[in-house]
Amino acid sequence: MPNALDFFISQFRSHLDLSNEPSGYYRPRPYRNASVRFRNCALADFNERRDILINEAGLNTFLFRADKIPGCDLLSDSGTTTMTSEQWAAMIVGDEAYGSNEGYFELKQQVGETFGPDWRQKSGLRVGDREPLFIFHQGRAAENALFTVLSRELKKTGFPKPKPFSSDLLPQLRSRIENRIRAVKGQTVGPFEPFFVVPSNSHFDTTEGNIEDKFMVPLNLPCREHLENNENFPFRGNMDLEALENLLASEPGRVPLVYVTITNNTGGGQPVSMENIKRVREITRRHKVPFFFDACRFAENAWFIREEEKGYGDRRIGDIVREMFDQVDGFHISFKKDGLGNIGGAICLREDGAFTKRFPQFANELTDYQIMTEGHPTYGGLAGRDLKALAEGLRTVTRQDYLNLRVRQMQRFGDRLTMLGIPIVRPIGGHAIYIDIDKFFDGAGRDEELKGISFTSLLLIAGHRFCELGLYAFGSFDGRKEVPPEPRVNNVRAAVPRLTYEDRDLFAAAEAVKILHDHRDRIPGVRVDYGRDLKLRHFKSRFSFIM
Ligand code: F0G
Repeated sequence: MPNALDFFISQFRSHLDLSNEPSGYYRPRPYRNASVRFRNCALADFNERRDILINEAGLNTFLFRADKIPGCDLLSDSGTTTMTSEQWAAMIVGDEAYGSNEGYFELKQQVGETFGPDWRQKSGLRVGDREPLFIFHQGRAAENALFTVLSRELKKTGFPKPKPFSSDLLPQLRSRIENRIRAVKGQTVGPFEPFFVVPSNSHFDTTEGNIEDKFMVPLNLPCREHLENNENFPFRGNMDLEALENLLASEPGRVPLVYVTITNNTGGGQPVSMENIKRVREITRRHKVPFFFDACRFAENAWFIREEEKGYGDRRIGDIVREMFDQVDGFHISFKKDGLGNIGGAICLREDGAFTKRFPQFANELTDYQIMTEGHPTYGGLAGRDLKALAEGLRTVTRQDYLNLRVRQMQRFGDRLTMLGIPIVRPIGGHAIYIDIDKFFDGAGRDEELKGISFTSLLLIAGHRFCELGLYAFGSFDGRKEVPPEPRVNNVRAAVPRLTYEDRDLFAAAEAVKILHDHRDRIPGVRVDYGRDLKLRHFKSRFSFIM
């Protein structure tokens, strides 16, 4: 009866298309579990979590012990990936030679495969000869090295004297830069005046911290659609091109490099379009300023370009990735995200790029800094087995089936929250859901009450861990009152680890959020007991409920 079989096969096949909808369940996950981890705590242990949270952790979710979380731990998608069997297998055969281990060559090779041949050493696999790849133990170590060496290189040309801003600089940009200069100056003593400005669509907090640490001024230039909360614009991660053009035209010499963070983690995890990336390239090329990616979630960004941008629907993810990286002079990356690794980071410099040309000594100085702080360039702070796992992770991460599952799961999670009446930032990004705390409290919460902190604390008692990325993480304390970040962001983030949770786990977290939302008028504010005026304060502060 071949016709009946053909009929059923065509029925099965027609459902494949339906399952492209975010709500589709027809298509199974493209992998199955090879290992699982049972919890050693129960959802019903509410009072135990309350005690730990208040007495041990001081309402700081970073300080809460993970083994007491029975639900979803969505504090970060960083380093929390469940690795594949192939990655674990690669780790077992890891080569722990002190210099030039096997994993090093595999990672170099794979970086060239993934990001394109320009990111592979031109001279083959020789070590120490104009190598584009600099390995670090994680993203922020790479950032720290980049800005340490950059500030030294800039100093070599003599630090510019403070000078007034050009009258061509847009007034709102000028006032934002001046505010940031004041903030950076507040962290130092003496007559030093920060001069250099490093713009981005939005810097991550550690990038910002590393820039400020070298007395440079980080400046976020998110696109208009982002500031207007445009929920229908898929590329809300884009950079504001007019502002960038104005900054580079009116303040030449003040900008040592321009950044685009893919995807835009701070702004909502949304992607940056290929068009925007190419326009930034064009503007920076015209003004002779180097252009870098903070590339942590490059594969998720490429998935969105394929899905949403005209002309990319039939392209391979791998090709889109290479086209993206063709545009930049360098990038740094935390492999703890789209490297699918639990540890690792890197800086990559294009050999003939604008950055290398402008700072010809940079690579050499960077190697020295790397040797002093991380290790020999052939392992850069990682074990040989980690390098092997990363090479394997970079091979997996651009798989279309993996990315479909990854991003669509995020969309189902977000849709579930929306269905339950929770205000989330839209469109939904690739790695996390951002709950809009101002809207969650209907604008009734006062900034001083730091309701985002109260929200994450109560949710931990319920059994799930989210992360405040809003007034506390990005704002500051001026000695008298809280100063919200500019532009204002007030979110709580649920970042989903890769290959770790199933929909039902995430939906359980959504139910707990709904309970809080239903009774939001009873959520108390918090007072800061420690750390309010510290830099990177959200990692260290302690709070208590105002009852
Ligand atoms: N850049 C971006 C865009 C990031 O999201 C992160 C880390 C880093 C740099 C720093 O990398 O953690 O390896 O040192 N983001 C994590 C998060 C911590 O939770 O969003 P790292």
